[in-house]
Amino acid sequence: MFTNIDECYIEILRLVKQAGSIINEKIHQHKDVLTKSCDVDLVTEWDQKVEKLLINGISSKYPDHKFIGEESTAMGEKIELTNAPTWIIDPIDGTMNFVHGLPHTCISIALLINKTTEIGIIYNPVLEQLFTARKGQGAFLNGAPIHVSDKKELRNSLIMLEMGTSRDPEKLEVILQNIRILTERAHGLRALGSAALNMCMVALGGADVYIEFGIHAWDIAAGDLIIREAGGVSIDPAGGPFDVMSRRALCASSIEVAQEMAKILIQYYPERD
Ligand code: IPD
Repeated sequence: MFTNIDECYIEILRLVKQAGSIINEKIHQHKDVLTKSCDVDLVTEWDQKVEKLLINGISSKYPDHKFIGEESTAMGEKIELTNAPTWIIDPIDGTMNFVHGLPHTCISIALLINKTTEIGIIYNPVLEQLFTARKGQGAFLNGAPIHVSDKKELRNSLIMLEMGTSRDPEKLEVILQNIRILTERAHGLRALGSAALNMCMVALGGADVYIEFGIHAWDIAAGDLIIREAGGVSIDPAGGPFDVMSRRALCASSIEVAQEMAKILIQYYPERD
């Protein structure tokens, strides 16, 4: 089956812009908030509406395309990554920020064909930041090329990390131990509250590493391509190959800094997507 990726790219950009205007309109309004896996794993009707808009829009043009969406999964849909063209969607990454009105929130969407990422788009409509990448064609912020930093050592690297949306005591303990280890060895630690936007900060060279355990495919699929197309690397936090379904990600400006970090991290292995 032939997929016209140029056409898909134009179509998804149109839909993402449309969905972005919903986030922009609602971010400073009151929202009814529900919880999912725990008290800090939030969802609003707008997460669900944005995901529906994207899935309906794509399906009407490409009825045989498949989806892995954060909110469809929360509503019981099975996660299945096959060789078919599959869109992996986080309709609002940084839902907690969206709920509070903190402007670091975005749509993250990737198109995978034969399990290879062809398109990655991360759009923060509030700050008007559109990060885009296509396989083999570079990474861009609002149309201008971006590149990772030249950092090769942890001691002068700025690290993006998150506590995540679970309060499982075992995972929390691992994160806190890693925060201590990294605070002692790196330049600094930062958290934007959106896995996708953290990854974009590495892609544009403003930060040098992003690490997280417990994220899902929809948080990292687009960011992985954007970072690699910006000249960086994505690996498993223990040093092996990156696996979008593993719920583990370590992305960096260079393989040297990624591997240096993999050697010192305390590891955590969540259940796979
Ligand atoms: C979450 C955010 C958060 C990260 C979590 C994600 P959501 O996504 O990206 O920064 O730490 O692991 O689940 O729930 O806002 O889409």
